[in-house]
Amino acid sequence: MAINPKQIAGEKAAEYVQDGMIVGLGTGSTAYFAIAQLGRRVAQGLRIQGIPTSEQSRTLAEQAKIPLIDFDGIDHIDITVDGADEIDPAFHLTKGGGGALLREKIVASLTQTEIIVADETKLVKHLGAFPLPVEVVPFGFQATMKKLAQLECTTTLRHINNTHFVTDNGNYIIDCAFGRILHPPELEKQINAICGVVECGLFIGLTHRLIIGKTNGTFEECTQAKPLEES
Ligand code: 5RP
Repeated sequence: MAINPKQIAGEKAAEYVQDGMIVGLGTGSTAYFAIAQLGRRVAQGLRIQGIPTSEQSRTLAEQAKIPLIDFDGIDHIDITVDGADEIDPAFHLTKGGGGALLREKIVASLTQTEIIVADETKLVKHLGAFPLPVEVVPFGFQATMKKLAQLECTTTLRHINNTHFVTDNGNYIIDCAFGRILHPPELEKQINAICGVVECGLFIGLTHRLIIGKTNGTFEECTQAKPLEES
């Protein structure tokens, strides 16, 4: 039987969750396996409270009978398990392939241990082959798109079923193809300084542990980001 590396990574990450924790529930096909596993553990008596990073994950958590909490009752999140579209050796990430980057970043920014789960295809030397998702307000999005293009990328307004993709927050996504992102922290600042941009999918300094599932059924864990060599 084929082994799904995303399942290996997602289920392994769920092992870090302990009784009494507040848990950020990521979005995507890898985070799905963590949510499903946490649901099984809750059924066996684990007591946690979840914060979903998207409406999709909220639905999954409700189906898995994971109790949910909102931001009123908390000042931090103990652990979040989330996926990524690209991961570089310095633990810089591209996220937002599923369009949930804003809520994912809010949750990550409150999280003490952010665990990123992925398969090996997400590991890259440099970010940028995956077009960077940027969430923008619909008003004047054409102007925001032109400003983004001035950063030397090719911009595409994300569509789904022949209409604009709308995020859980009522915004649009502009996918920015840079090819190669040499300085992710600087680019994050430049993008987020553009009026009309709500947030971009660069996640800098937010990852504490990486769990990479492999097709041979094993996984690799890493807690130490490596400085990226210029080349
Ligand atoms: C959603 C995300 C996802 O975490 C990312 O797209 C990875 O998804 P998958 O685990 O399905 O490959 O950022 O906004």
